[in-house]
Amino acid sequence: MSIISILNPKGGSGKTTLSTNLASFYHERGFKTLLVDTDPQGSASDWHAAREDNPLPFVAYGKAENLKALPDIAKPYDYVIIDGAAKLEGMIAAAIKITDVILIPVQPSPLDIWATSDLVELIRARQEVTEGKPKAAFVVSRAIKNTLLSQEIVGVLADFELPVFETFMTQRQAYPRTASLGASVHNGITTLKARQEVNSIIDELEQLIGGKGVRHVA
Ligand SMILES: Nc1ncnc2c1ncn2[C@@H]1O[C@H](COP(=O)(O)OP(=O)(O)OP(=O)(O)O)[C@@H](O)[C@H]1O
Ligand SMILES: [Mg+2]
Repeated sequence: MSIISILNPKGGSGKTTLSTNLASFYHERGFKTLLVDTDPQGSASDWHAAREDNPLPFVAYGKAENLKALPDIAKPYDYVIIDGAAKLEGMIAAAIKITDVILIPVQPSPLDIWATSDLVELIRARQEVTEGKPKAAFVVSRAIKNTLLSQEIVGVLADFELPVFETFMTQRQAYPRTASLGASVHNGITTLKARQEVNSIIDELEQLIGGKGVRHVA
């Protein structure tokens, strides 16, 4: 079982988009998967409710202290994906404590990169007392292909000394269009490129987890 948190206190960085696409992917591949909403805005809850009889197991937490119970609840699952809150230190700190792997979606803009520094410090402080757990990596999100900022971001993020996924989530209509139906790029109206992008992020995530990898069909 792996608990994967998608965290970034900066609003609109792509947390819910990444969480829902990862959870859908694993669920569709037959893994026991639980999607967890820790954001009071409830975007993941809205996404889940947008699909009638949504088969993906789902739970929402309103209070940080309640997250302590999640590792026990998570035991029967293969993957637990936590959609992180924006601007809520208590919830983010609680998620860091119970998580195996953190992905930090970050938009290719200096303001967004600077806004992650407190989160990176929190993660590092935790790693120091727990022999490196949770592992963490950046995923560049909402990148516009072939722009200078998108190319430069990897160098700028290197200062944080955390791995940066080679695969970017690029700006694509497929993400909001599928989200509006409670779907993902693997089960909604979509493009092959968006599916390949998520498949490739899954490959890098599996390497970070240290698992055997997951077979996917584009
Ligand atoms: N790769 C992408 N391509 C196109 N649109 C995107 C992409 N990623 C996110 N979006 C859109 O950008 C907006 C913000 O994304 P999302 O809700 O995933 O961010 P968030 O970090 O969860 O935000 P919040 O902090 O408010 O919870 C949404 O409207 C979403 O559909
Ligand atoms: Mg969100």
